[in-house]
Amino acid sequence: MQENPVFSAILERRSVRRYTSEALTKEEIEKIIEAGRYAPSAKNAQPWRFIVITKRELIAEMSRDVRKVMARILKFRFILKLFSSDLRNPANVQSLKNHATNPKDTIFFEAPVLILVVCKKDHFQEMSCACAAENMMLAAHSMGLGSCWIGYVRFLKLLAGANKKAGVPKGHNIAAAIVFGHPENGNVNAPKRKEEAGIIKWIE
Ligand SMILES: Cc1cc2nc3c(=O)[nH]c(=O)nc-3n(C[C@H](O)[C@H](O)[C@H](O)COP(=O)(O)O)c2cc1C
Repeated sequence: MQENPVFSAILERRSVRRYTSEALTKEEIEKIIEAGRYAPSAKNAQPWRFIVITKRELIAEMSRDVRKVMARILKFRFILKLFSSDLRNPANVQSLKNHATNPKDTIFFEAPVLILVVCKKDHFQEMSCACAAENMMLAAHSMGLGSCWIGYVRFLKLLAGANKKAGVPKGHNIAAAIVFGHPENGNVNAPKRKEEAGIIKWIE
């Protein structure tokens, strides 16, 4: 089958975790958001709001906040693990320890741009925002830029005032947090994908 540019972008996009310090232009950021705005959304509600953070001190502070929450979770993990299966997995605990004790920004990778896709707390709205997020990451890739979805941002809601500091409006949740920037390293290999045979069920 002849490859087309969309399919190539889907296959080639990678999560980028090393960025140069070069800022993105406003035009580049607007282009990325345009790709998000054209994503499908339930009932065409377009529930998203985009919070664009380029203030590096704020990104660094949010990184510290996420790691502060991780440290607290670790402190109380022997009780919390009764309720969270994640904390019963030693690999997850080790990962939290690595982030919590690392002086570097292991959360946002010192990327020059962080975009929060926020919406009201509703299942369909969050799914629509996830579509926008993927469009944005593919668009960034097509522009020669790197991106990475940062799920760890969810820890911010456990810290009083942290979401407000990030500009999240009242009654809204962060559905997706994505960093963008100029990739520092060359090609990153794709993490192994599961075999098709194991994940597709054909009903013919
Ligand atoms: C919902 C979601 C949350 C993620 N959270 C993180 C994260 O907090 N930190 C990180 O480095 N990567 C995060 N990632 C990136 C995944 O690790 C990555 O997509 C996966 O390993 C596959 O690699 P690829 O994106 O290069 O294909 C997240 C991805 C998704 C979709």
